[in-house]
Amino acid sequence: MIPRNAEASNKPVCIIGTGYVGLASAIGLAELGCTIVGYDVNAERVEALGAGVSSYREGPLDALLRKHVRRRRMRFTSDHADAVRGAGLILISVGTPALEDGSADVRDLWRCVHALAERDLSACDAIVIRSTVPPGTSDEIAAVLGRRARVVYAPEFLREGSAVADFLAPDRTVVGADDIEASIVYARLFEPLGAPVMLTTRRNAELIKAASNAFLAIKITFANEVANLCDALGADSDEVLRGVGYDKRIGGDFLVPGIGFGGPYVEKDLRSLRRVADGRNVPFYLAQATLNANDHQPRRIVELVSQEVGQVRGSTIAVWGLAFKAGTDDVRDSLAVRIVRDLVARGASVVAFDPAVRAIPLPEGATLATSAVAALQGADALLVLTEWPEFTRISPSTIAHSLSGLTVVDGRNVLDPQRIAAAGLRYRGVGRAVDGEPQSLPVAI
Ligand code: UDX
Repeated sequence: MIPRNAEASNKPVCIIGTGYVGLASAIGLAELGCTIVGYDVNAERVEALGAGVSSYREGPLDALLRKHVRRRRMRFTSDHADAVRGAGLILISVGTPALEDGSADVRDLWRCVHALAERDLSACDAIVIRSTVPPGTSDEIAAVLGRRARVVYAPEFLREGSAVADFLAPDRTVVGADDIEASIVYARLFEPLGAPVMLTTRRNAELIKAASNAFLAIKITFANEVANLCDALGADSDEVLRGVGYDKRIGGDFLVPGIGFGGPYVEKDLRSLRRVADGRNVPFYLAQATLNANDHQPRRIVELVSQEVGQVRGSTIAVWGLAFKAGTDDVRDSLAVRIVRDLVARGASVVAFDPAVRAIPLPEGATLATSAVAALQGADALLVLTEWPEFTRISPSTIAHSLSGLTVVDGRNVLDPQRIAAAGLRYRGVGRAVDGEPQSLPVAI
């Protein structure tokens, strides 16, 4: 329950950094009734956003953006003074990419803080850091800003592909500050969403974010390792993990085996947390073990292809999916792309299709097809690397007629093994029965 001793502010909210998280948060806050000024150094992006066009492929994103721009609830600028002037809350959502050694690069964040320190912040109730940062960073920022502004750390838990939906239906809102007034001004924005709001310290909030992503990484990796064991034992990972996930203490979400966790966030955040632990001489064995296992999983998928086609060199592999997960066109740190490169390096030709990825630099030896079925023509094997639902709608007989070979390697366990086998193809999933025979009664009793 948020204390009721602060008035809701009708001052605009300034969002610094209109990348994916910044934009999704801006739209989410506009949906909650805030007036938004989005600031970005990238003038081209600012112009496009002002015209209602984002560079992200996510369901309702552009439609909501246009709605709020049209209603003048949202505007964008690359004029810093204009963006900050009169803002009640200033949210910072700039990227904190990984440096070579795995630690987070917080230089852009600090540039933002120093730029804000030059401004008149008298209207500002709080500066809210939303970027993922090493624990301790926002306390340092608060120390630098001193009396000029109150600093809140409020992590985001937004998944690519469903960021606005996640924003508007959070499991929890975490607000870290050492100042109750500042916490309340921010936290009250989220009250209508009905989720628990947790007021805590900045450092706790930073660690909640880092530990949450680390746990998700560990959970996915656990599913992968159990599935690999299922492969060796002739057990079925779908069944085993479903049975495990029914235990409420464990939960079935994020227990889907596959090619490993990819994308620009989870691995980066885990590496950064490991660096932070190293820096304090605190062993974090699980972090390194998880990173190692996740590095191994894509190689395992390539080995599976190699076992099935006999000789990778000279073979043609049809790949379905390049994005790091379904629902996005993002190929940053995509393990699908890593697998394509590995196959090409081993002498295969790859013909890839992804419904969302229209252009991507691929190594020589890999090309993009215009459709999922076109990618199959004459290939020795089909390899599924992203869990797009449209792939499940292509009939196994179409796959069988289009492929030259008989192999289907399903790195995401999205196809139906029985139907694939019934079409005369050989199915290999991640920890799924090789022959596609059901391993237990289809109906739970
Ligand atoms: C993640 C966190 O979920 C989000 O809370 C955070 O704020 C940003 O980082 P995101 O990277 O968008 O979100 O994707 P996520 O859905 O977490 O998936 C990460 C990777 O793990 C993807 O490659 C996905 O395919 C894979 N994954 C996910 C699995 O292999 N199995 C699963 O069960 C879940």
